[in-house]
Amino acid sequence: MSKSKTIYVCDACGATSPKWLGRCPDCGAWNSLVESLPMAASANTRHTAYAVASHAQDLTAVVSEETPRVSTGLQELDRVLGGGQVAGAAMLLGGDPGIGKSTLLLQAVSHLAQSGPALYVTGEESAGQVAMRARRLDLSSRGIRLLAENNLEQILAQAQTESPAVLVVDSIQTVFSDALQSAPGSVAQVRECAAQLVRYAKRAGVAVWLVGHVTKEGTLAGPRVLEHMVDTVLYFEGEPGNSFRIVRAIKNRFGAVNELGVFSMTDKGLAEVDNPSSLFLSQHAQPVPGSAVLVTQEGTRPLLVEVQALVSPSPLANPRRVAIGLDPNRLSMLLAVLHRHGGVPLFDQDVFINVVGGVRLNEPAADLAVVMALLSSFRNRPLDAERVLFGEVGLAGEVRAVSRAGDRLKEAAKLGFKRAMLPAASRLERSVGGIKVLQVDKLGDALDLAFD
Ligand code: TYD
Ligand code: MG
Repeated sequence: MSKSKTIYVCDACGATSPKWLGRCPDCGAWNSLVESLPMAASANTRHTAYAVASHAQDLTAVVSEETPRVSTGLQELDRVLGGGQVAGAAMLLGGDPGIGKSTLLLQAVSHLAQSGPALYVTGEESAGQVAMRARRLDLSSRGIRLLAENNLEQILAQAQTESPAVLVVDSIQTVFSDALQSAPGSVAQVRECAAQLVRYAKRAGVAVWLVGHVTKEGTLAGPRVLEHMVDTVLYFEGEPGNSFRIVRAIKNRFGAVNELGVFSMTDKGLAEVDNPSSLFLSQHAQPVPGSAVLVTQEGTRPLLVEVQALVSPSPLANPRRVAIGLDPNRLSMLLAVLHRHGGVPLFDQDVFINVVGGVRLNEPAADLAVVMALLSSFRNRPLDAERVLFGEVGLAGEVRAVSRAGDRLKEAAKLGFKRAMLPAASRLERSVGGIKVLQVDKLGDALDLAFD
């Protein structure tokens, strides 16, 4: 009996199994295994093409080459990429449908095409729609070749003849390979097509952009699998109803991660925002309870962000805990610390946290501001509107140092803040750049001084 060649791949972690299982033995996800083609079967022929004989050498003898960068014409995007686009890099741009991924790449490609031919593959929109958008945005279309195609083999063949310097595939979920039976967008297809395109990028030295839609759970379809295949993973974020958009590097082999690029969506496409510090503060005429301002450090840039909290008595047996822009687990932890070390019991309260402007706070330095916003809402007393807060709160109720406290304060001073509360361990002067510094090392002290 001939053996079936199919294997099963976990769409959460990418682990493979020869037979279907209800639960992934690697990551424990339920019902996540999907049918796929074995990668190993043809691996030998696939990889020999660029396997060169290697030998060890002294690290001192290695000549390091600066990777040449090509500007995308958008400085905000260049910075997130680590200084511009690199030839031969495979980049993934993920985001919700309608957030502006196609717009961003069309703008970038229009500039990139001036220094080398560009091939824009559109699987979602027709060539006419893309052309119409380029015209509406007043973009130069010189040097941009357009291909409306979903078939991977066709795309690669066209790329071979066109030999572009940059290839955009919009989106990877619409591309399918003849080698697989499954539908476009399925994990197997996305994985296989992305792998082939990444190989093409490396072999031909072409910068390849893959556009990927994020699913409801916030991951790219099939997605963790894609993240480790490519060199750079960018997420395009923003809130519906708000024109600001943030590009964030989650992974970058050619630059720093967590770097942010800020754009605003206008009727002429995406406009760069070079000084975004004050964007994420809502302007209150009067100080309001539940609002705290922190300085977060995203990549190389400090950013002032407002955290809003609403605490109200809950009619439910299990009060609600909702966090937008903050990890819900972090919120649970802070509520427990607040109860245990601050004596503020919120177990019978509904708790909502919102970070203004669709920013996602990933660093623990936001803890102090979250705790203070919670306290302020619970007590129904506004915090000092001219004070910024930052510091990590530990499980023992201590306020721990955060990186680059001085830079954060300078940014706050620029925007007119007068006072700051921050960890004593930062060891700053009592006054930095005109800001009066209040240093705390325990959560209890911070709470006592909250309304001073
Ligand atoms: P798009 O780039 O098509 O999003 P994606 O590729 O991520 O799905 O952007 C679509 C949205 O952007 C759409 O709702 C309209 C808006 N938009 C503008 O507001 N101004 C513009 O100039 C353009 C091109 C789009
Ligand atoms: Mg699109």
